Amino acid sequence: EGVDVVVVGSCMTDLVSQAPRLPKAGETIHGHKFFVGFGGKGANQCVQAARLGAKTAMVCKVGKDVFGDNYIQNFKNSGVSTEFVGQTDKATTGTASIIVNDAGENAIVIVAGANMLLGAEDLQRAGPALGGAKVLICQLEISPDTSLQALRMAQERQVKTIFNPAPAIPDLHPDFYRYADVFCCNEPEAELLTGVAVGSVEDAGKVGAELLRRGCGSAIVTLGPQGCVVLSAKDPAPRHVATATVTAVDTTGAGDSFIGALAFYMARYPTMPLEEMAGRANRVAAVSVQGIGTQTSYPYRKDMPQELF
Ligand code: RIB
Ligand code: NA
Repeated sequence: EGVDVVVVGSCMTDLVSQAPRLPKAGETIHGHKFFVGFGGKGANQCVQAARLGAKTAMVCKVGKDVFGDNYIQNFKNSGVSTEFVGQTDKATTGTASIIVNDAGENAIVIVAGANMLLGAEDLQRAGPALGGAKVLICQLEISPDTSLQALRMAQERQVKTIFNPAPAIPDLHPDFYRYADVFCCNEPEAELLTGVAVGSVEDAGKVGAELLRRGCGSAIVTLGPQGCVVLSAKDPAPRHVATATVTAVDTTGAGDSFIGALAFYMARYPTMPLEEMAGRANRVAAVSVQGIGTQTSYPYRKDMPQELF
């Protein structure tokens, strides 16, 4: 039997400082806490899907260094298959330097390192697993060519695809839209891609319509505390899917929690309406913002109300 969810994407070691606010250019400020965590959008999404009960595999590259060794162990502890996790001595494991302010907001600089060396041969090796999966997820923290090739392979093999254009690049190759069954992004990403400012649910609907026009099957624009807006080529009227109000302590990786949960539902409940999946994924992501860190805050199936399964 194939896996439910394959992620072709990134692993980063998160170096996190908590501070009262984000520093300005040229400024030094005191923070109150530092920790090292497992992050990277690809790995975060994979781990969240696994925690909800999906059978998962990660296709990625880390360095031959302590961060890389530790990351492989983290995947094993999370029940993620490491068959397609490569280690290279040509670059170091990716890192993300993250500052989180007292409002739970963040600013992040990533140095992708080994992630950028994930390429065509790695995809060839993972091809059979990818082809037998139910859902593939890709992002933009690896080489865009590799992401695009993975999405193309999946679509040729009738594997459902989720594409998360994060971090967004202004001149995204047009095929990224065509190869996405679900194109899922947040407000700033939507804005960068379409040039349309997103300040409201209504704006999100407009941007979503533009994403559909570019060729994706469905578009989801996430809106943080306002939930998300969902639209599909088959059902193009934008639907606002609200989320419960919670007190956020750290929103880092909340979008990844949402996407990992979405992939879980697409793999395990393929006939569920996308809107319903998005509502459930909102509830998973809402738990994540109430805990510090990314993966450390992601809920397991046992932590969630059983009505979600
Ligand atoms: O989306 C959150 C993630 O973005 C962090 O874990 C960090 O690694 C960056 O990639
Ligand atoms: Na969190």
